[in-house]
Amino acid sequence: MTQVSDNELLFQSLCIGAIELPHRIVMAPLTRARSTDRVPNELMEEYYYQRSSAALIISGATAISEQGYGWHGAPGIYTAEQVEGWKRISDAVHASGGRIFLQLWHMGRVSHPDYQSGQLTVGPSPIAATGEAHTPHWQEAACRSSGHEYIGNCKRH
Ligand SMILES: Cc1cc2nc3c(=O)[nH]c(=O)nc-3n(C[C@H](O)[C@H](O)[C@H](O)COP(=O)(O)O)c2cc1C
Repeated sequence: MTQVSDNELLFQSLCIGAIELPHRIVMAPLTRARSTDRVPNELMEEYYYQRSSAALIISGATAISEQGYGWHGAPGIYTAEQVEGWKRISDAVHASGGRIFLQLWHMGRVSHPDYQSGQLTVGPSPIAATGEAHTPHWQEAACRSSGHEYIGNCKRH
């Protein structure tokens, strides 16, 4: 049997279901929090278009419902406007020969009542999450709780 080096393997094609990748350099999902209203925008389109020479792009995590939303600036795919935004992005990637998968996201218990009209978050178990949630006000809250003054950003004395 012929031995193939890692470098050679990286540049060999690969089939994932019906999708054929020309090589194996895949872009990992990266939440960039660039959506101001949860709708994929032109900045995101440019970002993915610029990276379409990857064999496959996996998009940043994208909320599947209002209930599953929990990261400030992240996009969704549960309204017609969001679907249209993603179509523009996938069209731009396809037009330059690339491939893109959407990473679906339901944040469950690590959402926050600020995203749920004050209601508690929903998860598969009654166990509370530890850590901090990223809400529009998380930075301000983190700043004040560490005893600093907040003036648009954290002012440390
Ligand atoms: C800024 C940032 C955003 C990220 N966003 C996501 C994401 O949306 N979905 C996900 O599954 N992983 C996300 N990740 C994890 C990366 O995909 C991960 O770091 C990458 O696959 C490399 O793996 P490693 O950190 O274990 O080396 C993110 C990482 C960073 C640094």
